Parts: sequence; C-alpha cells; structure tokens
Amino acid sequence: MFDCFHRKIDYLRISVTDQCNLRCQYCMPEEGIVQLLHKDILTFDEIVSFATYAASRGITKIKLTGGEPLVRKGIVKLVEMLAKIPGIIDFGMTTNGILLPLLAKDLKSAGLQRVNISLDTINPVRYREITRGGNLSDVVRGIDAAIEAGLTPVKLNCVIEKSEDEPDALGVKKFAQERGLQLRYIPKMDLEQGLYGIVHGGEGGNCAICNRLRLTANGDIKPCLFSDLNYNIRKLGIKEAFSKALINKPRSGKQNHQNLFYNIGG
Ligand code: 5AD
Ligand code: SF4
Repeated sequence: MFDCFHRKIDYLRISVTDQCNLRCQYCMPEEGIVQLLHKDILTFDEIVSFATYAASRGITKIKLTGGEPLVRKGIVKLVEMLAKIPGIIDFGMTTNGILLPLLAKDLKSAGLQRVNISLDTINPVRYREITRGGNLSDVVRGIDAAIEAGLTPVKLNCVIEKSEDEPDALGVKKFAQERGLQLRYIPKMDLEQGLYGIVHGGEGGNCAICNRLRLTANGDIKPCLFSDLNYNIRKLGIKEAFSKALINKPRSGKQNHQNLFYNIGG
C-alpha cells in the first residue's frame, strides 16, 4: 500500500489510552489532562476490527502506545486478540516500563514480540523530576523483566534536550551498553510549534521515508503526527476513514494543535 508520495505504508501505531501513570514534563501538561469519556474510547473489538482491515490493506507492523498502554484495563487480552491477526509480522509496544515487572511474562505469552521502553536518565533524582514523580528503580526492574520474558530486542527511547552528549543521555548510553540494549535518541519535540527532528537510531521523524498511520484511543486515524488531519473510524466507518487518511497523508509535517504526546503516543 502506497501513499500519494510513493511511500510504502506498512506501520500502524495504536494508542490504546490517553491515561498514564507518569507525568513527563514534555508530554503531559502540568495541570493534568481532560480525560476522554469512557464512551468515546474504542472497544477492543473496534481496535481489532480496524487492525484486521489495516492488515488486509498492507499493514505488517503494529506498535501499541498511549498514554501508557499498560494502564489500559485488559491490555493482555487486547494483545492476545491483535497477535492473532494474519499478516502482522512485527508486533511491539512502547511503554514507560513501570508495570512490566507485573505484566512482561503475560504479554509475551499473549503474543507481544518486543518492547520499546522510555528512559531519559539513570539518575533517580532527575528521573523523578522529568516524570514528575516516577521511581527509577521501577523502570529498571521493568527493563529486566522484559529481557527475562524475552520481549526482545528491548530498545530504549531516550528523549534528549539538545545533544547526545548531555549527561542524562550519556548515562543512558552506558546503561544500554552494560545490558546490551539498543538505544534511540529522540530529540524533544513540540507538536504545537511544529518542532521535530529525526530520531537517531530509529526511523521516526523523517518525512521522506515515513511509513506510518496512527489510530488514537478515540478512533481518529491520523496520517501525520505533525498535522491536524484526522479521520474518525466511528463517524466515517473503517474503510472510508482509512482511505481518506492514506490519500491525505501529507508530504511533510507542519503543526499539530489538537494533540499532545499523551494522546497520540509519539
Ligand atoms: N518529544 C519527543 N518525544 C516524546 N515522547 C513523548 N513526548 C515527547 C516529546 N515532546 C516520547 C516518549 C516515548 C515515546 C512514546 O514518545 O519518551 O518514548
Ligand atoms: Fe507517560 Fe510516556 Fe507521556 Fe511520560 S512520555 S507522561 S511515560 S505517556
């Protein structure tokens, strides 16, 4: 499946909740968020129907995101349902890792292949500051649980201010090397101002090779992170929303005034 700029679209990111158990400074507004109404959040059946259709159109890779995907009630069941879809050969999740000590094994048994875990620093004081209250030891236990459960390759996502040489980024590099984990540096982005950069060691942020569509927790298909375009699968129906998103996927990103990272999942 190709878009109007001959980019092969084969990657679907699914945000399963706008809720999170952390409050990262660059992701959540300090004052908290207006939660989606329960009735507006897609059911598991709706998510699976959409993903099944997307796979029939050529999506081969799915990544679950949030908010924090592991705080969605019944997430292991959803993973089990999605893992059965024919045609999906790469099935992962981006998580803050806090709940992995509890869930890693079950996620693996349910069919999740791998996880990307967010880690911006290995300094406990800085971690608490950046996440507005998180415990570094929880995520480190989460990383070890993921490795032990075989959710591999475990990759670390590290948001950087300016450079890969800043102290927090270097600390995470050392940690990754010690454990033999892949590391990606993500330049801090600002959706509203349209500030974004290419992810180092990953494939995000590069419009020319962008292969993604996004589904938000309330059913909007977003063809581009840095755009206000969205096509709701409940309003338009799955097929029409999907086709419109594909046809209207912009050549490059500009600004997004509607979403923050907590409800679009990066
Ligand atoms: N800039 C860059 N990355 C961000 N993420 C969340 N907010 C931002 C931002 N403003 C990242 C998280 C996580 C992924 C889902 O998105 O760190 O790794
Ligand atoms: Fe939660 Fe991830 Fe946003 Fe941090 S970046 S507040 S962990 S969703």
